[in-house]
Amino acid sequence: MKLSVNIDHIATLREARKAKEPDPIFAASIAELAGADGITVHLRADRRHIQERDVEMLKETVKTKLNVEMAANLSMIEIMASIQPFQVTLVPEKPNEVTTEGGLDVILNEGAIRQAISRLNSHNIKVSIFVDPQLDQIKASHKVGAQAIEINTNSYAISKSEKTTKEALKAVIDSANLGRKLNLDVLAGHALNYMNIKPIVKIEEIEELNIGHSIIARAVFCGLESAVREMKSLLER
Ligand code: PXP
Repeated sequence: MKLSVNIDHIATLREARKAKEPDPIFAASIAELAGADGITVHLRADRRHIQERDVEMLKETVKTKLNVEMAANLSMIEIMASIQPFQVTLVPEKPNEVTTEGGLDVILNEGAIRQAISRLNSHNIKVSIFVDPQLDQIKASHKVGAQAIEINTNSYAISKSEKTTKEALKAVIDSANLGRKLNLDVLAGHALNYMNIKPIVKIEEIEELNIGHSIIARAVFCGLESAVREMKSLLER
């Protein structure tokens, strides 16, 4: 199973001091050398961590696949049209959220999302949509023309009881099955870590995971290279 490493937290640390280091460009190279199959960043409207400069430089330096998470609005589409990353993931974005709080409501925002996808596709950018594990949202993602879905694993990851974990895992499995049936590339992520990843790795329909917080948290103590290598080894199937 492939691993895209989200390096936003490296930029968060840099922005804590409005300094030049640590540089997410270095982090991306180290993650790639350690076996990452892709690099993910979220360019937020408030630019609280990743900056446009980072995305521009990553476009030049990333050897694997650069995936940029963003809100589906015109100004972001224009920026991506000029940088042209390999993939854009459309996410909902709230100004004061600590992290992305849920999947995009594709049914409610059908028109805007369809338009965003067609604009991004016209610049040769593949589009994935971050969605909650709900079948109607997966169907809607297919209907609006997305090439991929990223299934939100947060409910699975934060479930406390065996029963709710099982139910949340089933929702991810059913969503992955439907995504594959609809010929969408199926990715997943959010709140996955070294302890909860195994049942997700078993889902054959999921081809790639997008993981940030747990890898960077471990990297603080044992280095980014070993944190990525260890996660990558857990993704073997
Ligand atoms: N996928 C999406 C759409 C996200 O917004 C995030 C968090 O930036 C992730 C995956 C990674 O989540 P985590 O940092 O919990 O691994």
